[in-house]
Amino acid sequence: AAIKVAVLVGSLRKDSINRRLARAVERLAPADFSFEHISIGDLPLYDQDFDHDYPSMCQGIKHQIKAADALLFVTPEYNRSIPGVLKNAIDVASRPYGTNAFAGKPGAMIGTSIGATGTALAQQHLRNVLAYLDVLLLAQPEVYVKFTEGLIDADGHVSVEGTQKFLQGFVDRYVAWVRKFVGA
Ligand code: FNR
Repeated sequence: AAIKVAVLVGSLRKDSINRRLARAVERLAPADFSFEHISIGDLPLYDQDFDHDYPSMCQGIKHQIKAADALLFVTPEYNRSIPGVLKNAIDVASRPYGTNAFAGKPGAMIGTSIGATGTALAQQHLRNVLAYLDVLLLAQPEVYVKFTEGLIDADGHVSVEGTQKFLQGFVDRYVAWVRKFVGA
């Protein structure tokens, strides 16, 4: 059976290098893996008053995440942390208390930035949040990609062979990790 991966990209930017990285990973995955990008840009800002009558858009993202077998977070680093838009989506999908949509799902995080740290600090914050939300996170390999001009095109083609091989290594580990839990 096909394995469905919900992809959360922490950037709304049209030319996002993190969306390119997500596409690159998708290209390197086996045919029985399908990837659905969850759109997070139109969600309202989470408000605890929602919990009494959860907005339909917020219920929608929870359904999409619950329907997925696995998770892939692809995040930029904003000011040494994750972008607010990603944190908001996570908060929305984790509530009301006791209905966390992420619970028990296998997942991984990757990211790319133009800075030398390659999103390492953002991912450290994200790891903390997702551990609390009971996501079964792949620990290794860590993927901190320093983006250089033309490294990955809009369709996810990687121009540097070493980077392509490195990403393939990540994908192979990720696929094996997800299969352990999904049993496919
Ligand atoms: C950045 N950027 C950035 N880069 C980094 O390596 N560490 C950082 O802390 C930050 N901080 C930061 C804050 C804000 C508000 C912006 C807009 C940008 C630069 C960032 O790596 C670059 O803009 C990437 O292109 C963002 O990823 P997407 O949107 O292209 O996927």
